[in-house]
Amino acid sequence: MKRRKFIQNASLSTFGIAVGSSVFASEIKKSISEVNEILPKNAGYPMVIATWNVNDSTAEAWRVLQEGKSALDAVEKGCMIEEANAEGQSVGIGGLPDRDGNVTLDACIMNKEGDYGAVVYLQNIMHPISVARKVMEDTTHVILAGKGAEQFAISEGFEKTNLLTEASKKAWEEWKKTSKYKPIINIENHDTIGMLAIDKNGDISGGCTTSGLAYKMAGRVGDSPIIGSGLFIDNQVGGATATGLGEEVLKTVGSFLIVELMRQGKTPQEACEEAIGRIIKKNPDFKDFQVGYIAVNKKGETGYYSIHDGFWITKYQNEKNENIPSSFYDKK
Ligand code: GLY
Repeated sequence: MKRRKFIQNASLSTFGIAVGSSVFASEIKKSISEVNEILPKNAGYPMVIATWNVNDSTAEAWRVLQEGKSALDAVEKGCMIEEANAEGQSVGIGGLPDRDGNVTLDACIMNKEGDYGAVVYLQNIMHPISVARKVMEDTTHVILAGKGAEQFAISEGFEKTNLLTEASKKAWEEWKKTSKYKPIINIENHDTIGMLAIDKNGDISGGCTTSGLAYKMAGRVGDSPIIGSGLFIDNQVGGATATGLGEEVLKTVGSFLIVELMRQGKTPQEACEEAIGRIIKKNPDFKDFQVGYIAVNKKGETGYYSIHDGFWITKYQNEKNENIPSSFYDKK
């Protein structure tokens, strides 16, 4: 199954095969075995990859894939696990609030057809990723914001929930004593959750969900819900998603850039490194903030790279749910 799909996806001409009536079956067979030999050991699908150490999320996405469901179902269910984790202070309930004490959530989702849905500045709703999916599937729009997004969610049956936990309220009250605004690098080894999945058919989807920058200005929206910045999927090529300081990802349209670089022939790793390089080039002050990218291509090869040490990813593939430290730039 995997082999057949890979052959469909690979460009046969890459392997020197003239596709046409003159091609003998034996030549094709030989080339198939050559293709299998050059497949990297870590390639293949189904697979799930996510930013940060989120084993419960990737395990849930994997479980959904094992049921034979789509990559889209997998990323939604996987992201929902972190959104419901009240102890995580950068996603969903328990997220650190803005400077006025309001928890505001951003999320987006993208499917194999290249459809996209997002919510920005959503309050009082536990699962922005699911609202984003509803925007994509049940409306003629792609982004809903603020009150309108909340009203839409409620009309779709989502419950109103107080997202500000005691721990996050306490942290905000502590922050108010100085009101010092500074991005926190590798916040609690966790930040925006971006997830990419490939299902058994080799189709790719992705999701991205966050409470955004802690103590941000009211109304601030980051990269996570913006197509091409926090997430981009092209099912012919691959997908990419981002974590870290959204402003820098937005200015370089990072996830779209990575997918385009893969389209031009770069590996996921090379593409992630180049996207981080673009940020570093335009920011002499890159030492003060973190950005991390993950990417996957159509073969299930993955890449991950960040500016600084401390970025981890979680990958579920071949029955193994692994936390892996990302390589990083951080040249002193
Ligand atoms: N990457 C999340 C944010 O900056 O909002």
